[in-house]
Amino acid sequence: MARALITGVAGFIGSTLAERLLSEGWQVRGLDNFDPYYERAIKERNLRNCESNAAFELHEGDLAGIDLRPLVADVDGVFHLAARPGVRRSWGATFREYVHANVLATQRLLEALVERPQVRLVFASSSSVYGQAEEPLAVETAPRRPISPYGVTKLAGEALVGAYHVNHGIPAVMLRYFTVFGPRQRPDMAMHRFLRALLAGDEIEIYGDGRQTRDFTFIEDAVDATVRAFHRGRPGACYNIGGGSPASVLEVIEILAAATGRRPRSRLAAAQPGDPRSTRADVGRARADLDFRPRVGLEEGLHRMTAWMAQVGMPAPAAGTNHESA
Ligand code: NAD
Ligand code: UGA
Repeated sequence: MARALITGVAGFIGSTLAERLLSEGWQVRGLDNFDPYYERAIKERNLRNCESNAAFELHEGDLAGIDLRPLVADVDGVFHLAARPGVRRSWGATFREYVHANVLATQRLLEALVERPQVRLVFASSSSVYGQAEEPLAVETAPRRPISPYGVTKLAGEALVGAYHVNHGIPAVMLRYFTVFGPRQRPDMAMHRFLRALLAGDEIEIYGDGRQTRDFTFIEDAVDATVRAFHRGRPGACYNIGGGSPASVLEVIEILAAATGRRPRSRLAAAQPGDPRSTRADVGRARADLDFRPRVGLEEGLHRMTAWMAQVGMPAPAAGTNHESA
């Protein structure tokens, strides 16, 4: 039976990946430090299904602090999803947290893996490593010029993974996910915020003119690509994982309004530093090597996300979090 370590297991993508691996008969060891970036209660809820499964074990701890050797001693694969994830909140004093979670923690994990070079590593990178580049973004040719401090730390993570691959033979595969959405999406992300506002009858806040676009990727497709990367990814290679249905923020709001049956009220706010105008993935390499084929389009995915939000309800925002986490 295969055994995995998932870092960031309590998060949006990590918890969904854990359920997928458990359903395929894996033993799953999860690590998470319940980073206060968003509410712990949400992360605990994400893990509810896993915790009733005897093949799942949870370790609470900080990748950058604890002894990682026992955690990787008997695993076949490591899925490294732990990170500080928000693009727009990476300016200013919080940059320290991004360096800690995205660079230092990654380096410590890689050091622990040096002694276990047969363990395959799948590293969660990000479309934000590209910045404002010509599209479609191809892994082979597009320059990596991040325009947010977050993107800089994800690029540093990739570079570290590459260095340990080249020098220590760690069989690592990197995935650049493009704006993932669906059930359990983080509460700071656009669709989650829009849905919450629609259901509460609040105003939606649109950054800039709302015509910026993203190559939105449904969570099940992102997770599917992650499992495929473990089995079939070329060590040392990097793959774009995009859903193939680029849409603007305004289009997303229109679909969500129809899905909820609510009339949106919105206000325009300033465009945010660090946000690229658009992202569109060239997934040719992922298609060729991983046989990656996204299956859930924007409209279906948003309906499924709406159904999820109706089912879980809207947890009250924790005191002391800034407006983006609400
Ligand atoms: P998330 O915040 O929901 O999950 C990340 C988890 O990592 C959290 O539960 C957090 O507590 C944990 N964590 C953070 N620092 C840690 C540390 N030092 N030690 C242990 N655990 C730690 O985020 P997500 O949206 O699920 O993103 C998962 C990964 O995918 C991240 O690496 C992110 O950069 C990447 N990514 C996400 C998206 C997206 O659209 N969600 C797109 C591109 C890339
Ligand atoms: C997302 C994730 O949050 C990052 O973790 C990830 O690394 C990145 O995708 C990626 O693809 O690499 P982002 O594209 O900013 O980042 O995702 P959203 O938060 O869903 O924002 C999408 C768009 O909606 C952005 O243009 C943003 O400015 C806009 N937005 C967001 C609003 O107009 N209003 C809001 O309230 C929130």
